[in-house]
Amino acid sequence: MEPDADIDLAVIGGTGLYQLAELREIEPHLPVTRFGTPSGPIRIGLLDGYRVAFLARHGESHVLPPHLINYRANLASLQALGARRVLALNTVGGITERFGPRVLACPDQLIDYTWGRASTLWEADQGEAEQAQTEQAGTEVLHVDFGEPYTQSLREQVIAAGQQAGVAVVADGCYGATQGPRLETRAEIARMRRDGCDLVGMTGMPEAGLARELGLDYACLAIVANWAAGAGPDRGEVIALQDVLDNVAAASAGLAAILRALLAR
Ligand code: HPA
Repeated sequence: MEPDADIDLAVIGGTGLYQLAELREIEPHLPVTRFGTPSGPIRIGLLDGYRVAFLARHGESHVLPPHLINYRANLASLQALGARRVLALNTVGGITERFGPRVLACPDQLIDYTWGRASTLWEADQGEAEQAQTEQAGTEVLHVDFGEPYTQSLREQVIAAGQQAGVAVVADGCYGATQGPRLETRAEIARMRRDGCDLVGMTGMPEAGLARELGLDYACLAIVANWAAGAGPDRGEVIALQDVLDNVAAASAGLAAILRALLAR
């Protein structure tokens, strides 16, 4: 990938990931979109000469819970600033055996259990000019294909970057997006396991769907912070916030190396 004036990669950080320490010459941007403003400043800087944009999904001091995040403004802002591909970092709970605490995973599927969130760009009051533009471009915004919710080519690059960087990344998995902000009951997690979910998090949707509507390349790198309720070897374990943050910090140690390898591909 050649460095150029556009943004080479946008990174959205989740719980425990509020900045990219490796970025240099950072400039903050706070665009106003037709959906409002993003969760906080979008910090555009250089990483090995590549232009990288970073946005803390919950705000830089973690003030926004998952159901109050303005996902539409976040993605529309990144796009307006020139981002074409987005790597979403999502802190999650692990449900199935391969996804224990501190595992990094690049899921290939998702199930959406969220409700009441603004989950599409397609509003009743969408301007006529915009609709005409969409029709002219031949793009179908209303019913976007979502059979593969993540961009396969970007997923492949993330997985290859992990291999190149020597950081283990599980190369598949199904992400179940729950409403939160409370954690799940054991029965809910047992149901999610029966549904086929490997991971549970609260921010994967509507973000992935909106990215598809906007035509952005989008992949998720999930960071397992804990066993989900009733999962894992110690089924009675209570999920402690400090464990979550400690595990995210430990698992994030390899992130910079993955980003560097991804940018250089
Ligand atoms: N459930 C939902 N979201 C999460 C979890 C969890 O167990 N851990 C981190 N994010």
